[in-house]
Amino acid sequence: MPKDLDALLREERVFEPSEEIVENSNIKKWMRKHDIESYDQLLERSKNDVEWFWDEMAKDLEWFEPYNIVYKWKPPHVKWFLNGKFNIVHNALDRHVKTAKKDKFAYIWEGEAGKVRKLTYHDLYREVNKFANALKSWGVGKGDRVSIYLPMILELPIAMLACAKIGAIHSVVFSGFSAKAFQERSNDAESKVAITADGFQRRGKIINLKANADEAMKDAPTVEKLIVVKHAENDVNMHEGRDIWWHEIIENMDDECETEIMDSEDTLYILYTSGTTGKPKGVLHIHGGYAVGTSTTLKFVFDLKDDDIWWCAADIGWVTGHSYIVYAPLILGVTSIMYEGTPDYPDPGRFWRMIEKYGVTVFYTAPTTIRMFMKFGEVWPQKCDLSSLRLLGSVGEPINPEAWIWYYKNIGNDRCPIMDTWWQTETGMFLITPLPIAKLKPGSAVKPFPTVQADVLSDDCKSLTEKGGHLVLKTPWPSMFRTLYKDPQRYIDTYWSMFENIYLSGDVARKDKDGYFWVQGREDDVLNVAGHRISTAEVESALVSHDSVAEAAVVGKPDAIKGEEISAFVILKQGFKATDNLKAVLKKHVRTEIGPIAQPAYLSCVEDLPKTRSGKIMRRVIKAKVRGEPVGDISTLANPEAVDGLDKAI
Ligand code: PRX
Repeated sequence: MPKDLDALLREERVFEPSEEIVENSNIKKWMRKHDIESYDQLLERSKNDVEWFWDEMAKDLEWFEPYNIVYKWKPPHVKWFLNGKFNIVHNALDRHVKTAKKDKFAYIWEGEAGKVRKLTYHDLYREVNKFANALKSWGVGKGDRVSIYLPMILELPIAMLACAKIGAIHSVVFSGFSAKAFQERSNDAESKVAITADGFQRRGKIINLKANADEAMKDAPTVEKLIVVKHAENDVNMHEGRDIWWHEIIENMDDECETEIMDSEDTLYILYTSGTTGKPKGVLHIHGGYAVGTSTTLKFVFDLKDDDIWWCAADIGWVTGHSYIVYAPLILGVTSIMYEGTPDYPDPGRFWRMIEKYGVTVFYTAPTTIRMFMKFGEVWPQKCDLSSLRLLGSVGEPINPEAWIWYYKNIGNDRCPIMDTWWQTETGMFLITPLPIAKLKPGSAVKPFPTVQADVLSDDCKSLTEKGGHLVLKTPWPSMFRTLYKDPQRYIDTYWSMFENIYLSGDVARKDKDGYFWVQGREDDVLNVAGHRISTAEVESALVSHDSVAEAAVVGKPDAIKGEEISAFVILKQGFKATDNLKAVLKKHVRTEIGPIAQPAYLSCVEDLPKTRSGKIMRRVIKAKVRGEPVGDISTLANPEAVDGLDKAI
């Protein structure tokens, strides 16, 4: 068993939130209103009356026309708030500008080089309207797709909200992805318009994003216009007839724009995520249930109140940013911090100085970032006053108890509960998570959110306690993805075919005797590198697309900071030599094909790879070798000698 997992299984410390936190929490206030006395009672009652709970939550939002059915579950398909007329942007912006919230900051943005830009709700509303009118002027309307390839700048949420406002569907592509990845996603979505920037700051250097976008546009036949945000002021080529500067186009646009009346179930966005094949999956989310699910979870888990300063230090290119930097915080009307750059630039004190400077009260980051800060030492947070913090959060991968304790002590000063939220691109919202009233065990994501029925199952569908098994969800939740874009069969095959009417998450977990969940990692061929989901198949297909590679196998190698690192094994074609230069070229090739996050940390050339008699590569064997674990049963191997070859390569 890997060391981390072993530690997770043995962790027995319990941390209780202070009475002050419990008594003042949003969830406790709500429980008082409904005569619910304990956490267990809350979970029990909500589980038994799902409609009541979510109907209560949906009342906090404004509907153009009320829904008449809370939800309809015909596995594997669900609909929520049926027949309701709604637009998420009405709730995130329009309704706030009619109140005192209008002059409150929606975003405080800090660039890596130190520039600060602040937008009130009213400013944001106007910027969104202007850009929505620009989109309309190019004929973009309800149901049309828009690809967005932007760094962490304010135009990113503005563009997303502008799309949603007019009923268009956005498809955001993480700015760290390659030209090819952007092209593939734009083409799959058949986007009419694409949006990018000249460049952005990364560790003091300017990354020329426009050059990537140009490369992608060489074969993106559906894209009619490429909108370019001037941000880093680097030189770029503007393609006559296709490219338009963002600032030029919005100059003459009206700052009022009517919000499209949508059905609750109309599509809000597509977000591509890695699956077990080389082709990314287009996860599709909708307006109504997504708005209700994300805003409710943020309100209760991170306990956000009117005077909070919320910092979700993720990138909007991933689901965490979609749900918890853009939509949910705006629906709740809170102030969010948005940061352009890397956490340790120009030094490892950057995050802590920003917390002090802006008085951040609730801070949410990933275990990989926490482990990186652990490496730099507590001297960095100690230089800053972090007393404004009230709650902390973690997401993206299992947090090992050592990192949890470090975070709790050094950032939270032993008084800020840590919300370890388990969820996925597909789930849209936190599903297994503590609430601020819960006792915490370091390394456990605690229990399902009210109404959510999670379980750990054996292969034959038996509920397991104190044993690892498949993490599943037995009932639907409002912000569940509705399907995979253009691939409804894959939706069924991937998530709903192992157990009848039960959602298979793809994670392995253990439930302890107190009902606490301990998520251990993926059970499929998906890696989690620094909290990013990367498919082994995608990296392998990038490798074999190089002239020199005949076959490739990719596995995850445990890493103290990133959780996992990519370890690649390739068989070269005849005539190619395994030189250091070629290995470096191959690593770089993956970077160009997918993006820097997918670049293998290790790459070895081997004569052979372990295979079954039917020719399938046995990644399990390679994985065990890389991890220094026993290889187990290899009787089905067609070429046992390949295992010796691996020994030499590792
Ligand atoms: O393996 C789980 C891990 O991240 C996967 C989902 O990745 P993605 O769709 O990119 O979304 C990441 C942000 C929600 C899950 O299948 N994961 C996410 N949160 C946790 C986690 N693993 C353990 N603990 C978590 N809190």
